[in-house]
Amino acid sequence: SRTPVNVTVTGAAGQIGYALLFRIASGHLLGPDVPVKLNLLEIPQAVKAAEGTAMELVDSAFPLLAGIDIHDNPKDGFNGANVALLVGARPRTAGMERGDLLEANGGIFKPQGEAINAHAADDIKVLVVGNPANTNALIAAAHAPDVPKSRFTAMTRLDHNRALGQLALKTGAPVADITNLTIWGNHSATQYPDVFHAKIAGKNAAEVVNDQEWIEKTFIPTVAKRGAAIIEARGFSSAASAANAALDHMYTWVNGTAEGDWTSMGVVSNGAYGVAEGLVSSFPVTTKGGEWSIVEGLEIDEFSRGRIDASVKELSEERDAVKQLGLI
Ligand code: NAI
Repeated sequence: SRTPVNVTVTGAAGQIGYALLFRIASGHLLGPDVPVKLNLLEIPQAVKAAEGTAMELVDSAFPLLAGIDIHDNPKDGFNGANVALLVGARPRTAGMERGDLLEANGGIFKPQGEAINAHAADDIKVLVVGNPANTNALIAAAHAPDVPKSRFTAMTRLDHNRALGQLALKTGAPVADITNLTIWGNHSATQYPDVFHAKIAGKNAAEVVNDQEWIEKTFIPTVAKRGAAIIEARGFSSAASAANAALDHMYTWVNGTAEGDWTSMGVVSNGAYGVAEGLVSSFPVTTKGGEWSIVEGLEIDEFSRGRIDASVKELSEERDAVKQLGLI
């Protein structure tokens, strides 16, 4: 039998953690024949709750689950990690300024980056889910100088999946027929879901939709503000769909994109599409053999240019702010 893959999940006792861990253990992160060993990282006050979740994982008798350990410090939490899902973060609370939020999260992602640098396995792959995800990934990567920057990614797959869902509802096409969709920029309200390069059953999606007003006034804001709409409806933030997207992101990274298609991932920019080098921004990305690459050479029209630039400007401002705070 295969050696288990060490998977570290931070924020394991949280909402997303609860929706995520059972599906990791049932093979939805890496595949149906890959055994996993779970390392749950929490803050000391939440260790007991994580223990409760671990009890339920034991009670599920997952054949692929090779073991569970719970940790209250990053050094042990990331020891030997092959895959790390950084879910735990400091949420914005009433009266909190953006600077405070960035600073509080810097206090989490800096030591986690350092621990990954010192203790994770050589093949470590990191997905940052905790918000502000792109900038948290930037901070973690900055403190892991021995790990290639390409191993630190941020989640925009939920936005990607939300866009697929809305396009399917609008056109009546099955989700499986929609390809080449892109989320550009930041995982925030400025993100740009791009249908102009997307295809529905092989035809240009914007042409199939044939309704520019819907794209601009309904589709884009619906996708960008979906998180708030879920909170409004459910009374809690999206957790199951976020967990699902985290699984999709890592599964695609490890197992590859389909021929001719791509996905959306927050990855370190190489300067493509005028996105300043080093920013963690969402791009159209293909994956193969566990490596991602940005799809280059797409034609960007004026409308898309303006949207991408606006979101990237926000990412630059976040980077400047964390630089000023001494976090990178
Ligand atoms: P939650 O508040 O239910 O759980 C967060 C957990 O993280 C808590 O159990 C907390 O104790 C833990 N935590 C805090 N600091 C930690 C640290 N230093 N080390 C380890 N664990 C720590 O929140 P929920 O709903 O699970 O969401 C988690 C994060 O995911 C939030 O930042 C949320 O904004 C973000 N999110 C991101 C999405 C995306 O698309 N990128 C989508 C949905 C949520």
